[in-house]
Amino acid sequence: MEKIGKVETKEDVLKLLNIALEHEWAVSFEYTIHAYSMPKGKFFYEDPVMKNRTDVRAQIIQIGIDEMYHSLQLGVIIRQMGGDPSFKTDEVIRYPRIMDNLKRDKMTEDLVTNLYQSAQFPEGSFPKIQNMVLNISYDEVRHSEQFAAMMDAITKQGAEDALCYQANPENAHKKEIQLLHEITRLEDELMHRYLKYVFLFSEHQDLTQRLFKNSINHMRHWDKNAGILVKWGDVIQIENASKDPAGVEKSINPMPSVYHGEDRITALETLIPAEEALISKYEKLIPMVPDGEIKDQLMLHVSLNREHLFTQKWLLHNARKIKCF
Ligand SMILES: [Fe+2]
Ligand SMILES: [Fe+2]
Ligand SMILES: [Fe+2]
Repeated sequence: MEKIGKVETKEDVLKLLNIALEHEWAVSFEYTIHAYSMPKGKFFYEDPVMKNRTDVRAQIIQIGIDEMYHSLQLGVIIRQMGGDPSFKTDEVIRYPRIMDNLKRDKMTEDLVTNLYQSAQFPEGSFPKIQNMVLNISYDEVRHSEQFAAMMDAITKQGAEDALCYQANPENAHKKEIQLLHEITRLEDELMHRYLKYVFLFSEHQDLTQRLFKNSINHMRHWDKNAGILVKWGDVIQIENASKDPAGVEKSINPMPSVYHGEDRITALETLIPAEEALISKYEKLIPMVPDGEIKDQLMLHVSLNREHLFTQKWLLHNARKIKCF
């Protein structure tokens, strides 16, 4: 992560915010992947602030969501200042051991706290930005303490060597599993992509709320699909990752950095075929799955995506009818 010292001009502010945004994207994704790769309800820690026994996996997902909100805050303000929010990300890594992922997560939190807290603004300049950066930095302090407490608890349990889930090599030949990987990747991409349009159209509160709602639905589907993959003896994949002989996976492109659509109409036009492609993949997968909980869950996802498609078609229709910008 690049560091920036003095923040004097508007360009310096935009640079700081975009460095931070690329970081926030990466961690929102990386933490969620780390959580999806470990068991639910197996490791607990005593949360230093909430003062209760908390599931490690669930709390890491919660931290990932905090990072998504940080991305949202940064993207909206960059756009409002006339800048271009970046959709590039820092590198994402998954280690085979749960403990090594937590160590990396804590180290990342300390690095980013430093990025935010070491930015030097001249006295009284950009007060709202300064305030926001400082507020976010204390979320990062809190996250760092949470990761530290999680590591302590796992060490006390003697579980330092506990491993992440691994994909059974036979799954490469199982059509339904490969299809679910494709679907899950698309759910993640759509979550990210809807957030882009939330940034771009943040001054239009009606549109932005609708797009945000869809983004959150895609996040939920991503979460549930990751759980189904585990039930099927697999684990969430990291896009464009390479794996070294020690089993460490790294990706510098864990999600697309470019999405088409720069104005309201062209953006809305791209979402319709994306929703349609996702729906057709679910429709192909569902008949392959035996009746039961998993099938019901997948049917819920496809039905919500059909609702998204309905909404998107009308948003586009109305945007063409009444031109706002
Ligand atoms: Fe953050
Ligand atoms: Fe954080
Ligand atoms: Fe959708």
